[in-house]
Amino acid sequence: MRLEPPEKVTREQITLDVREIEPLLQAPPMDLKPWPGAMITLKDGSTMYIREAKLEEAPQMMDYVKKVMETEHDFYDIVGARVYAELMGWYRKRLKDPYTLVGLIDGVWVGLGNGRLMSEDINISLHTMALRRGLRVGATMYYAKTYYAFEILGNEEFWATYESYNGWWRWGVGMAQPSYPWPEYQHELGGARVYYITKKYWDKVVKDYVRQMVGADLVFDVPDEVIKANEVMEVPEEVLV
Ligand SMILES: CC(C)(COP(=O)(O)OP(=O)(O)OC[C@H]1O[C@@H](n2cnc3c(N)ncnc32)[C@H](O)[C@@H]1OP(=O)(O)O)[C@@H](O)C(=O)NCCC(=O)NCCS
Repeated sequence: MRLEPPEKVTREQITLDVREIEPLLQAPPMDLKPWPGAMITLKDGSTMYIREAKLEEAPQMMDYVKKVMETEHDFYDIVGARVYAELMGWYRKRLKDPYTLVGLIDGVWVGLGNGRLMSEDINISLHTMALRRGLRVGATMYYAKTYYAFEILGNEEFWATYESYNGWWRWGVGMAQPSYPWPEYQHELGGARVYYITKKYWDKVVKDYVRQMVGADLVFDVPDEVIKANEVMEVPEEVLV
């Protein structure tokens, strides 16, 4: 749009360096406390290590998720497509305060749990994916996000929504989550209902979820060999879901 200036000006052109535009497009980060890394023994006896994904791993993760989103069952298509966009948003710095947790077994990527901070109080759950089925990997990854929110980041509320029956069953029902009135409150994932956990409810009930679901707790005292075995992430050769 153009309008004539209402006064004479000494410079008619102002040139911008894109570096001056970037701070307006990129949200200033809140400097989140990092996820410390934790492991859990799954029901087949394997050890899943949950760590933060490294930014340089994003392209490899996106390539794999592109294949996963071609799966036309259990809503892996819509969740895969949205996860792809979230990974890209993280990689290209177009998400506010994102976190990306990955579950690895012997270095192989088996689960994802990501989200972002809307504010110091409200943690928005984005997606959870089991890339290997039947081990309750997804249940554990989601629990890790709630643990991160309440025990490490000190958030007051965790907001989620569900695109799949499995997700709703696992956590909407599995954690007996209440929801806010709809459509007054809408989750950023398509305007669906906001299901939530408060800190009080976490302390009273949800904290015990993973022990009930998996029969083990997250262990934060992780031996060096487990950390080492999962330092380099590999994606599975094919889609396993
Ligand atoms: C929702 C989700 C993360 C749950 O993961 P999970 O906790 O690891 O559980 P699974 O999906 O592997 O399995 C769910 C149940 O179906 C069974 N199952 C389903 N498909 C299976 C398969 N191919 N092989 C073995 N078991 C399978 C499991 O045994 C399990 O039963 P259980 O409750 O007795 O443990 C996972 O289903 C997923 O990634 N779905 C697609 C993405 C999605 O919907 N994300 C959540 C958005 S709301």
